Amino acid sequence: MDRATTAWKVPRARLTETHTALSAELRGVVEQLLFGDPAAGYAMRSRVEQELIPVIGLPHVVAVHSGTIALFIALRASGIGVGDEVITVGNADISTTAAITQVGAIPVVCDVLPTDYTIDVSRIEALLTPHTRALLPVDIYGHPANVAALRTIADRHGLPIIEDAALALGAWDHGRPVGSFADVTVFSFAPYKPLGSLGNGAVVACHSAALARQLRLLVGYGHEPRSEGRVELGQHYVAEGYNVPLDPFQAAIVATKLPRFARWTQLRRQIAEQYARTLGDFVGVPLFRPESAPTFRCYAVQVSNPSFVCQRLRERGVEAVRHYTPPIAQHPIYPHGLRGDKATPVTDQLAGALVCLPVAPDLTETDIRYVCDELCACL
Ligand SMILES: Cc1ncc(COP(=O)(O)O)c(C=O)c1O
Repeated sequence: MDRATTAWKVPRARLTETHTALSAELRGVVEQLLFGDPAAGYAMRSRVEQELIPVIGLPHVVAVHSGTIALFIALRASGIGVGDEVITVGNADISTTAAITQVGAIPVVCDVLPTDYTIDVSRIEALLTPHTRALLPVDIYGHPANVAALRTIADRHGLPIIEDAALALGAWDHGRPVGSFADVTVFSFAPYKPLGSLGNGAVVACHSAALARQLRLLVGYGHEPRSEGRVELGQHYVAEGYNVPLDPFQAAIVATKLPRFARWTQLRRQIAEQYARTLGDFVGVPLFRPESAPTFRCYAVQVSNPSFVCQRLRERGVEAVRHYTPPIAQHPIYPHGLRGDKATPVTDQLAGALVCLPVAPDLTETDIRYVCDELCACL
């Protein structure tokens, strides 16, 4: 039997409590949007973009409606289109493969590593064809894919890297924030992401000013960016774009939370360490390259009976979840599967083993001990 979100003993996150603690500031920014200068919405969106630049470590950040649309826009701005093959993984959300398909391209699935569940870089070159046009690694659960290693392969073959870091804001690899080794990177602000809004939200970040300009055009109808919010200039379309900017209210939530984000990331890592210490002898825990510093959207452990364990934990008040099962290629929307690796044994094995345990900065050591005790009790 499942329970209402409010009744979880250890929920995925205590959002109400977090928002209550920030209530004065949140009310302030929302009031500013409702009753202040009508241009406050644009200013709020720009503020989020500017303040994220040092966090992400990339010079251009464009705020958009959601991670899903961000991936689509990133692929389009990178010139990926009909018939192009994009190598990605099969243990991610529909958003990743759908974004590829929606630009007319073809997802090509590469198997993943049993250690940190990210793309197996050693398999990439076997999957390249004359139609390969991009690599799209996913920092699943907030674990950095080895994009520095992918970069070498991408450069050898002249391919762009589009990194799906929807779950990985705050993660680092090789001493730099995730996204540093890619051409363009997507971060989501969906409510349970490391930096969550209340609804949808995301940013696309990149090194290149030309790519950023293209992204802004696609996000804002294809107008010249200078006309945004300034109706008197009229419309000057230079691309066939969409209307998918970050909503100002979501921007306001993100801007308010951002000053706490570095601390929250530290707390997520401490929780993951507590899980690793307590559970490492009993279940399969993720293992990371020493240079990788994940952000932990959740803590994904491997057990032999995941459906039972997940259900049992939920009955005991722990909001455990199973993600990415079955692997994306096995969903009925892809009746013939997906191109790529003929067999994906690791992806399949993980889909049949992973259970995600709660990680959120507002969970206490006692909460995590409770989750560990309950998990051990049902093994
Ligand atoms: C790996 C991954 N990529 C992309 C997305 C899409 O992000 P959004 O929910 O903001 O559209 C998600 C959403 O959960 C995701 O898990």
